[in-house]
Order: sequence, then structure tokens, then C-alpha cells
Amino acid sequence: MSFSIEKGEIVLIVGSSGSGKSTLLNMIGLLDHPSNGKIFIDGVDTTTLDDNKISSFRNKKLGFIFQFSNLLTDLSVLENVLLPRQIGGTDGAAEKEAIDLLKAVGLEKQMYKRANKISGGQAQRVAIARGLINHPSIVLADEPTGNLDSVTSETIVQLMKSMAKKLNQTFIIVTHDRQHFGQVDKVITIKDGKSYEGEQPSEMEVLV
Ligand SMILES: Nc1ncnc2c1ncn2[C@@H]1O[C@H](COP(=O)(O)OP(=O)(O)O)[C@@H](O)[C@H]1O
Ligand SMILES: [Mg+2]
Repeated sequence: MSFSIEKGEIVLIVGSSGSGKSTLLNMIGLLDHPSNGKIFIDGVDTTTLDDNKISSFRNKKLGFIFQFSNLLTDLSVLENVLLPRQIGGTDGAAEKEAIDLLKAVGLEKQMYKRANKISGGQAQRVAIARGLINHPSIVLADEPTGNLDSVTSETIVQLMKSMAKKLNQTFIIVTHDRQHFGQVDKVITIKDGKSYEGEQPSEMEVLV
């Protein structure tokens, strides 16, 4: 498969279960290594990085949102958002930025609650704020609404879209919830090991 994504785009990756969506996302996210091919992020071929460089590249350039928010339940909401920032050393601006992000995702009243005292939808909002805290080049989201009811899914989708617009933030999102997203910049469909740009087989242009 071959495709490119521009800064600020919201890109959906769709395809049947088992088609390799998570595998693709994990390779872009440097959590998995391709046996073949190259992946360029900000001009760097990430498939050539050694283990040390992989960790720092991942932490600096990539934000992650998973199906289950994976919050640390002993920490507060605010502390969870700050975690990725602390891996690279603390800085004074971090807390203010985390608070601003939590306000932007509508959680100003929940900031000091423990992460196990909030709802699933709120936890996904925290995960979005956490994914954005390091100003990543790309936020990668694997089925971010997969564990939410449809009303909550809708608000999470709209939140990701509005944050993408406001911050000119690139999002690559694996989803089976295509209809909730409405208009996006690009849809990549994986079918039988190939990627296609577009949604219906008739509209699809084979991307090698
Ligand atoms: N290109 C590939 N080559 C080899 N195995 C693959 C490839 N893509 C996916 N797989 C395997 O197929 C299975 C399902 O892939 P996964 O990425 O979890 O699919 P999805 O997220 O679309 O449901 C996994 O076991 C994965 O290792
Ligand atoms: Mg998957």
C-alpha cells in the first residue's frame, strides 16, 4: 500500500475486521515494524530508526488514542494528561497547557478527580487531551469510539474534528464508525491487503 497524508488532515482508515487496520496504525506509530517498505514522518524514514531513537521519536512526534482510554486510575485526570509530557522531562508550561486542553475537551470540572471516577466518554476526552499534550505531528487513534454508545461516540467524533481544525492537527483514525465522521479529508480503505483511497469499491483508485 502507498498513500500520503498532509499536515492538518483528518484521515480515516476503514476496512473489515482483520484487514490489517491496527497493524498499519501500529507501524505508523512505531509500535510495530514492517517487514518491507518505508514510512516517512516529517521527512524521516522511521523504519531505519534504532530502538533508542524510536522511543524518543514516538514520544515527541506521535500521540495515541486507543479504544480503551488506558488511563492510570490512581492518578488524577490532570496527571494523566501530563504523563507523556513528563517522559521528556518536566517544564513549567506543561500544567497550564494540560489545563487548557482539558478545558477545550470540556473537562474543567473533572480535572482533579481520580481517573476511575469518570465515565467512559469522559475518559476518552482525557485520552484526546493526553494525545495532544506533546504537540505531536500525528495523533493516531485506533477505534476511539469502539467502546462507546452512539450518542457519546458522536460527541467524541465531533470533538476530534474540532480539535483537528483548531490546532491544525493531523489525525489518523481507524474506525468502523464511518457515518459519524461525516466529511473528512481522506478515507483509506484496506481490502485484501491493498489500500484504496475512497469509500466505495467503484470510486476506489488502486494505490499500488
Ligand atoms: N500485511 C500483513 N501481513 C501479515 N499479517 C497481517 C498483515 N496485516 C494484518 N495482519 C495480521 O492480521 C491480523 C488482523 O490484523 P489487525 O491489524 O488486527 O486487523 P484489524 O485492526 O483491521 O481488525 C493480525 O493477526 C495481524 O498480525
Ligand atoms: Mg483493529
